[in-house]
Amino acid sequence: MDITQATAFVTGANRGVGKVFVASLLERGVRKVYAAARDPGSLNGLLEDDRVVPVALDVTDAEQIQHAAAIATDVTLLINNAGALSFGGALEVEQEAIVRDMAVNYTGLHSMTRVFSMVIEANGGGTVVNMLSLLSFLAAPGFSAYNASKAAAWSMSMSLRPYLSQRNIKVLNAFPGGIDTEMLAGVDGPKDRPETVVADVLNAVTEDLEDVYPGAAQDAFDAWRADPKAMEKAFAAMM
Ligand SMILES: NC(=O)c1ccc[n+]([C@@H]2O[C@H](COP(=O)([O-])OP(=O)(O)OC[C@H]3O[C@@H](n4cnc5c(N)ncnc54)[C@H](OP(=O)(O)O)[C@@H]3O)[C@@H](O)[C@H]2O)c1
Repeated sequence: MDITQATAFVTGANRGVGKVFVASLLERGVRKVYAAARDPGSLNGLLEDDRVVPVALDVTDAEQIQHAAAIATDVTLLINNAGALSFGGALEVEQEAIVRDMAVNYTGLHSMTRVFSMVIEANGGGTVVNMLSLLSFLAAPGFSAYNASKAAAWSMSMSLRPYLSQRNIKVLNAFPGGIDTEMLAGVDGPKDRPETVVADVLNAVTEDLEDVYPGAAQDAFDAWRADPKAMEKAFAAMM
């Protein structure tokens, strides 16, 4: 996809990786970017560029998704970035936390894609980017609700791909490792800068790739592919 010809829609655009997506898309010459946030008042700082259109959107709210699609009728690039992480081991995590992470990371991603696929198709096709995680296929102790939600989202993205392909819509799955944002504040470990992750993901959009392991995630993915069981045990040992 040629980003200079794209009109983008970014969920969770007010902070973290989403905010960097908006800034980077502008730098790369995107035509327009809809910056969606639960609280559009938190988008301050992104609105100086007149190519940015603020949108109020909670990805768990079906009515708000329909409303967003009715406003953003020219979208060709959807970036499913919004995400939630509830901490807790597999035996003690609260049911509410499991439901919350699933609602944002899995159901929200699916609902956004289903509704916006009609918009993108009407515009001749385009790309959907899903911000998944290495934890889509690895289980970090203490992240059990999040791990499961990202695994479900990965599975759904693969179910969607052939249907979207018929509508001339590509699906790019991004599998980052740790990123230095509020999501992992207080968690020790190696983290990529959000700018590094976003640059790798947008390069993959340009190259029409199906999967990308941005930043340091590529090495982790290579190790997992070489010996999945060894990686599972290495992650379990972090408990
Ligand atoms: N940080 C990491 O280490 C890491 C690693 C791999 C993958 N990822 C994924 O990368 C994406 C971006 O993460 P991040 O690091 O930027 O996280 P973050 O700093 O915690 O930001 C999360 C964003 O998602 C939004 N959000 C949460 N629930 C939402 C909802 N129901 N509806 C709409 N927006 C909602 C937040 O909005 P509010 O300000 O309203 O809360 C915020 O804009 C996520 O999908 C995350 O799972 C992150």
